[in-house]
Amino acid sequence: MAKLLVGNWKMNGLKASLAEASLIAASAAAAKSHAIQLAICPPATLLASLSEAVSGTGLLTGAQDCHEKVSGAHTGDISAAMIQDAGGYFVIVGHSERRADHHETSAVVRAKAQAGLDAGLVPIICVGETRAEREAGQAEAIVLGQVDGSVPDTFPAEGLVIAYEPVWAIGTGLVPSAVDVAAMHRAIHQRLVDRFGSAGASVRLLYGGSVNGGNAGELLHLDHVDGALVGGASLTADGFLKILHAIQE
Ligand code: 13P
Repeated sequence: MAKLLVGNWKMNGLKASLAEASLIAASAAAAKSHAIQLAICPPATLLASLSEAVSGTGLLTGAQDCHEKVSGAHTGDISAAMIQDAGGYFVIVGHSERRADHHETSAVVRAKAQAGLDAGLVPIICVGETRAEREAGQAEAIVLGQVDGSVPDTFPAEGLVIAYEPVWAIGTGLVPSAVDVAAMHRAIHQRLVDRFGSAGASVRLLYGGSVNGGNAGELLHLDHVDGALVGGASLTADGFLKILHAIQE
C-alpha cells in the first residue's frame, strides 16, 4: 500500500499560497516512484484554483469538511458534490477542531463521511483523545468509540482513510511515543477488521499531530502507520517536502 502524506492547511492560505502548492506538486511524481502519495487540503476558497494549478502532476487535493446533505438551505456550508466538482479527491471529516468548535458528534461525522463516499470522494475520518482522556487511561476506549461511531457501514476497498490525531499533539510540538502510536494504530486496524473483515485491513491509517521533518521518519515507518496528516508543517513546500524526504530515506 502506498504511503499517504496529506497537508491540512486549516484556515490558512490566500491565492499567493498556490505557489507553495505548485512547488509541492513538482515533487509528486518522484514521491509516487517511492510509493508515496501526496495531497493538500486547502481552505475551500482555494480548492478549485489549487486543483486546477496542480492538475496532472499527481498531487491530489481535498476539502476539510463537507455537509452531510446533498444540497439545500444550509447557508455557508459546502456539499461533497461541490468538492468533487472543484477537483477534490479527499474530504477530511470529524477533525477535532470541528468536533470541538462546531459540536460535531460521531453520528454527524459518519453522515458526512457517507456523503463524501456517495459523491465519490475518499473521506479522511479523524479521531483522537484529549490529554485528560489519555491521562485517565481512556485513550483507546475513546478513540475506538469514535471509530465505531464515525465509520459508515460500507465503503469501497481502499476508499476510506482514518487519521489518528491525539488532540494534545496538534500544534503543540508534543508527539506520543512510537510505542503509543503503534499500539493505537494496531488497535484501530484490529477494530476495523473485527467489523469489516479484510476491507477493514485496507483502510489506511494516518498519524497526525506535530509531524515534521524531524520525527516523520520514525513515525511513518511504524507498523499500521500508512501516512500522516500534517498541519503547520504543510503550509510551506519546504516544511512539507522535508517530511517527504524523511520518509523516502
Ligand atoms: P499540526 O501538524 O499543526 O500539529 O496539525 C495536525 C493536524 O491537526 C492536521 O489535521
